[in-house]
Parts: sequence; C-alpha cells; structure tokens
Amino acid sequence: MDQTNTAPVSAAAEPSHDQIQALLDQLEPRPDGNLIGLLQQVQDHFGYLPAPALAQISRRTRIPLSRIYGVVSFYAQFYTSPRGRHTIRCCRGTACHVRGAGQILDSIKRTLKIDEDQSTPDLKFYLETVACLGTCFLAPVIMINEQYFGKLTTQRVQTILQDYPD
Ligand code: FES
Repeated sequence: MDQTNTAPVSAAAEPSHDQIQALLDQLEPRPDGNLIGLLQQVQDHFGYLPAPALAQISRRTRIPLSRIYGVVSFYAQFYTSPRGRHTIRCCRGTACHVRGAGQILDSIKRTLKIDEDQSTPDLKFYLETVACLGTCFLAPVIMINEQYFGKLTTQRVQTILQDYPD
C-alpha cells in the first residue's frame, strides 16, 4: 500500500548533499546490509526520505533505485516528502461517523487549511484519516501522535489545534 505523502510542503526542509553524505558515511550502507533498517535510520534523521538520499543509498549499496522505491512505497511507515511533526489521525469509522466525525474532519481541514494526507506549510501538523482508532466509546475521536482526544465538538477541536505545542 502506497501511503507516501505527496502534499505540497516547505522546500526549505530538504537537506543538503553534504548533510546526506555525512549521515550515510556514519551509517555505512553495504550491499548486503539491512535496507529497511537503513531507510528507517535515514527517515528518523531527516523526518522523511529525501530523493537525493535514496539515490546515494542506491549508489553505495548497488541496489537499483527502482527497487529502493519499491520498498519505500510498499511500507506505509516510509514517506518521501517532509511531513508535519505531529500526526493527526481522524477517525472515519461508523461509530465516529454517526456522532459527527465528518464535521470534526471538516473543522480540522478548515482550521489548518489542508486536506487529508497533507502537512501544514510550517510542518507542524500532518492530517490523515483512519478506519477506526479502536476507542469507539470516545466517538467522535482523533489522535494527535499517541494521545487520544474523544467526545469531540468542532469548537473543542479548534481549541486543541490552536493550543497544541510546537
Ligand atoms: S469508529 Fe471511531 S474509534 Fe472506532
């Protein structure tokens, strides 16, 4: 499943060639190494997988770039565009839907001026929807990072977003 983020975001977030080189010198990619582990470390460092880093990994490991992109797009944990620091997961499951999840999602989109699967230009938030957060008794519910916010109203969600720390 390809869940890479294709949203337009700040171009300032792209690391330089030297920064990428320095990280890869440290990680020492090898042809027989653990590609997924390497990609995770690069993403942990930069917050996403920049295209020039994938090209350098391909050169250093001699793994074809097309195969690396195949791995990146297969795993939902990887993304190739800068992504907001705080991930908002808005539930669109049945229990939440009947209790107004649609209005909650609209309110988030309006407040942040983004759509689903997009990041805010300041890279503070990334918004996605999920089938069920497993806490239907809290409907309508969202998560921001690992924290649940339940029994939401449109007003409360706006306050949560406006007051959310950087
Ligand atoms: S339907 Fe929203 S948490 Fe289950």
